[in-house]
Amino acid sequence: MTGDFPRTQIRVRDVTKSFSGRVVVDVDELELGVVPVEGLLGPNGAGKTTLMRLIMHSIPLEGGTVTLSRPGQREVLLSATRTSQMAGLGVVKSTQVITDFEHLTILDSALLAVTEARYERPFAAAADRAVRKRHEDEIRYWLDYFGFDDPLAVALSGGEKKLLDIVRCLLLEPAVLLLDEPTAGLSEGHTERVKAAVRQLASAGTSVVIVEHDLDVIWDLCDEVIFMAEGKVLMKGDPATIRANPTVVESYLGAGSA
Ligand SMILES: Nc1ncnc2c1ncn2[C@@H]1O[C@H](COP(=O)(O)OP(=O)(O)O)[C@@H](O)[C@H]1O
Ligand SMILES: [Mg+2]
Repeated sequence: MTGDFPRTQIRVRDVTKSFSGRVVVDVDELELGVVPVEGLLGPNGAGKTTLMRLIMHSIPLEGGTVTLSRPGQREVLLSATRTSQMAGLGVVKSTQVITDFEHLTILDSALLAVTEARYERPFAAAADRAVRKRHEDEIRYWLDYFGFDDPLAVALSGGEKKLLDIVRCLLLEPAVLLLDEPTAGLSEGHTERVKAAVRQLASAGTSVVIVEHDLDVIWDLCDEVIFMAEGKVLMKGDPATIRANPTVVESYLGAGSA
């Protein structure tokens, strides 16, 4: 399935990264965004998170290039783009824990995160009543969707922080969304809500890339699965094919779990 319209794609070429002299990412060629929802699968330490951080340029690449191609627009070299400019280009990654905004209410955290990414002068934008009102409606919709009882509360559990981060990602209306274990630690009900939101986003045109340890989420949600091990992309295919592949079963799924 390729969707009904051209999607924003990310191309990774010859990208390498090592830590303390050990190569942890070594990807020759990878295109993301060819299908609506792409799963990135692989054992712990395979380099999945590092690859996402390299795409966001939140850590420097050693070699290679990452480019963004948006339908009808000129290609952008993401590996030469600042992390802070990614959201403006439509490339968003979930950040797992929001630590900067501990003192703010849930509503204000979401509002600030959105205005910060969308506008150059976030505080000016947040102070603008019209902007605030428009975002508040969207934010309240998603907070309600994920079952936040009190948007004006401050205290947040780990699960609430994760959901708030997903809300932030959804509000940014990304062209490409990278999700690193978005449902880890969430209840079954919240996991289902996240999956439905991802489906909705993908069918509206967002290219989603998801890393997830809960394999049912991967098999359920993904149109294509990329299997990584030891920093390399070993194979790519539809979920059923990857799930049945002997190498994947042996090195990752374990006997009996496929
Ligand atoms: N900042 C870092 N410094 C040193 N080693 C790191 C750092 N980040 C990741 N690594 C190492 O790189 C390898 C890949 O990690 P990671 O990308 O987090 O894997 P995955 O997300 O697939 O579990 C692991 O061996 C990990 O220990
Ligand atoms: Mg990881």
